[in-house]
Parts: sequence; C-alpha cells; structure tokens
Amino acid sequence: MSPTLLHIDASPRRRSLSRAVADEFVAEWSDRGGRVVRRRLAEQPVPHITEAWTEICDNLMADQITEIDRLREGARTPAQRQAWDVLAPLLDEVIAADVILISTPMHNYSVPSNLKAWLDQITFPRMNLQPRRFVVVAARGGAYGPGTPKERVEHQVTYLSDFFEGHFGVERPAVITVELTNSIVDPLLAGRRADHERSLHDARARARELAAMMVHDMAVAR
Ligand SMILES: Cc1cc2nc3c(=O)[nH]c(=O)nc-3n(C[C@H](O)[C@H](O)[C@H](O)COP(=O)(O)O)c2cc1C
Repeated sequence: MSPTLLHIDASPRRRSLSRAVADEFVAEWSDRGGRVVRRRLAEQPVPHITEAWTEICDNLMADQITEIDRLREGARTPAQRQAWDVLAPLLDEVIAADVILISTPMHNYSVPSNLKAWLDQITFPRMNLQPRRFVVVAARGGAYGPGTPKERVEHQVTYLSDFFEGHFGVERPAVITVELTNSIVDPLLAGRRADHERSLHDARARARELAAMMVHDMAVAR
C-alpha cells in the first residue's frame, strides 16, 4: 500500500509561503507514488473543544484507556457522543497517516488558533502516535534562528516540537523554516529581502529532499 501523507495547512493566506513550501513536499511525495490527504484549517475551521469533550478525556483517564483504537470508549452520554462525532474524522485522518505535515504561519510568536483548536480536538492523555512522523513547515515575518535577538520568544516551532515529542511519544519533527517573510511588505525590513529569498529557496529544496527521503525510508521499512 502506498504511504499516506496528511497535510494540515493552517495559513489563512492565499499567498501563504508555508503552504508554498509544503506543496513542494506534497508534490515530491505524490511523484513518488505516495497518497495525500489535505485539510485546510482556515477554510474548514475546527471548533473548539466543549465541556463534553473534557468529560471524554476524564473518562479515559479514570479508566486508564490510552490505546488509540479504544478512545471512542470514552464517549458515553449523548453529549459526549456528539463531541466524539466532531473529533472522530480528524483523529481518523491522523491514525491513517504515515507522515503528518503541518504548514503554519507564526501568529503572535506562536501558532494560529485554528491549529491549536485542531490539536486540542485530537489529543488525549498519554496517547502514542508512533511510528508516525511529523514534519513542520513554519513561516514567520521576522527572524528567530539561533543567535538572533528574538530566538527566546520563538514559541512556534519550539511549541510544536515539544508538544509532538512530549504528548504523542514520537520523535521530534523535521522542521523547515521560512524566515523574514515580512521583508516583502515592510519597508523597515526591505534590507533583509535577500535573506528571505535565500531562506525560501533553501526551504523549497529541503522540502523536496525530505519528502524523497521519507518515501524511500518507508519503502525500505515495508
Ligand atoms: C495575526 C498575525 C500575527 C503575526 N505575528 C507574527 C509574529 O509574532 N512574528 C513574526 O515574525 N511574524 C508574525 N506575523 C507574520 C507572519 O508570520 C508571516 O506573514 C508569515 O509569512 C505567514 O505565514 P504564511 O506565509 O504561510 O501565511 C503575523 C501575521 C499575522 C497575520
């Protein structure tokens, strides 16, 4: 069976650069025979979790149920089953995927609320998503790399990496960043345009390379 890629896209922008780079990954994955499922969070927003959702979570904790194929046992009342019906298609997409590719803007030092809402819906206590792998393509207006003045407030990639490793029990995601995207529009950053273009060029190439490597690794493992 061909490997499945789930692409979760969080940008509300038509001219999104995180999506443009993720699309390189998707194209390489498809060219090599991989299957692709896409979810655009800005076009199909995921609702925030409800009280009934938190009750499912409490039921699972109380009964020590952590296996992903048993999570539905936490939905017991009509309201809980209704909450389950909202999250089930989202979770099914994750379960069916070999690789989960997240393309996301930085919004206010962190991730957009649509991505946080998706994560809240699909995450349950002590769940383990191994052997799935995660890839993050992160675009941001400024520069947050090692040694930059804003490195300390980088809560986009650090958040996602810490979360996937800590909560899903998977290895840290492969990360591709596109920096200084605001240099296209902000006159104060115009002097950094060349740095942005280099960052975008490298990100596109890295996305192709990473997709090729992952499809290859999966073919060898099967
Ligand atoms: C609501 C909002 C908040 C933003 N916050 C930040 C920020 O904290 N730091 C930053 O460097 N860029 C910030 N930006 C700029 C975006 O990260 C940048 O435009 C990025 O390229 C968006 O990703 P996209 O091209 O995939 O849409 C923000 C943009 C928006 C719309």
